Amino acid sequence: MRTIIEPFRIKMTEPIKVTTRQYRQRALTGAHYNVFLLDAEDCCIDLLTDSGTGAMSSNQWAALMLGDESYAGSKSWKKFESTVKKITGMRHVLPTHQGRAAEGILAQVLVKKGQVIPNNSHFDTTRANMEFAGALAVDLLCAEGMQPARIAPFKGNMDTDRLKGCIRQYGPENIPFCMITVTNNTGGGQPVSMANIREVKTILSEHNIPLVIDACRFAENAYFIREREDGYADTTLLKIAGEMFSYADAATMSCKKDGLANIGGFLVCNDDRWAEQFKNMLILREGFPTYGGLAGRDLEVIAVGLMEALDYDYQVYRHATVQYLRKKLSPLGVPMVRPVGGHAVFLDARAFAPHVPPLQYPGIGLVNAIYLEGGIRCVELGSVMFGKFDEQGKEVAAPLELVRLAFPRRVYTQSHFDYLAEVIENVWNHRDAINGFRLVYQPKFLRHFTGRFEPVE
Ligand code: F0G
Repeated sequence: MRTIIEPFRIKMTEPIKVTTRQYRQRALTGAHYNVFLLDAEDCCIDLLTDSGTGAMSSNQWAALMLGDESYAGSKSWKKFESTVKKITGMRHVLPTHQGRAAEGILAQVLVKKGQVIPNNSHFDTTRANMEFAGALAVDLLCAEGMQPARIAPFKGNMDTDRLKGCIRQYGPENIPFCMITVTNNTGGGQPVSMANIREVKTILSEHNIPLVIDACRFAENAYFIREREDGYADTTLLKIAGEMFSYADAATMSCKKDGLANIGGFLVCNDDRWAEQFKNMLILREGFPTYGGLAGRDLEVIAVGLMEALDYDYQVYRHATVQYLRKKLSPLGVPMVRPVGGHAVFLDARAFAPHVPPLQYPGIGLVNAIYLEGGIRCVELGSVMFGKFDEQGKEVAAPLELVRLAFPRRVYTQSHFDYLAEVIENVWNHRDAINGFRLVYQPKFLRHFTGRFEPVE
């Protein structure tokens, strides 16, 4: 097979700063060993997130200039609305400034104190929004999804037996809706199969519980279904996405991912009464229903980006970049979540640096080592991010210590990935030198963003 090439060429460049090890050491010390506190310009390859960091196409830049900034009923809104309807088939479309705003509206309108929201895995903002509304956010990921090294095609699937158990335990009257996240970011960017979505819907229907899809990476998920699930090999990604959404009653979306935009989101639903209530909250929190939290030009950009994300050749290339890094790292024995997901490679920091105890944060050690070695910024998903304490206030380690290398869309070329692989290989070869860390300052909430660390001697 020939090399899969980037299905685009570059006509605008942005310089990146190449730094020395000494410079990076100073930068890390200045940032208290928390890469969230680094200056972005000091990160030569920034893999902190795939959210809002993508490159726009020439068609998106052209569409941006057509932005109609009318307060109500703009032309840009019409394009946005018709595109979102074409993809999701939902009757009501509400534009928001990003995904968490859609989650916030959903939770504020539908969730009451003491209720329960099941999900395959809640992303942190989803969990926070549900908990803020007083609900218990329950993760019901399938067993294989929790075993990093186990190869399975759909490790993002929900465990349907546990879903039935959850409904029995809490009662359907206490579950205002159930969510399913495609792809499952928290569990390694793993896909959910159509069969699983269908089965979840069937179980929920028996109890009149609505299904809400967290659709951030719906196009990447559609590609996985086409590649891995029987019966979809000749189906367009648009059609597959349409079927996924057909089982849902509502969906939340961050257009910063598969909208190929730098900002934006939406909430969609079929129910007229829900839509009415969502709209009232939208006006209060975001803006008039035909622009929500967005400028007209953003609506234009997203309308184009959503369709580009469903382009098959784009998805072939997108997944090839993730596979490319895996193929370079696998033969070296670098431990990672397998198979690799749609938007990122997740390294298994616990297996990478087994000499660092979980509560000395091996993920933070690995993130620091990768930055120091090559100026590459990635993120810990482990005991720091998911910081939990037991009833006595004693810190509890997370079940997994992962480090996510998230790939911005259409941004880095094959030589960037070669460099990335070389840097990780070097860190792997000197893994005994990876340090443990202790937290010397932590805020009350979301400590991974602003916490400060010190290396353990
Ligand atoms: N749901 C999932 C599965 C996500 O990955 C994200 C964002 C959101 C919801 C919230 O969307 O950022 O537009 O408000 N994930 C980013 C990440 C931040 O780095 O994975 P948002």
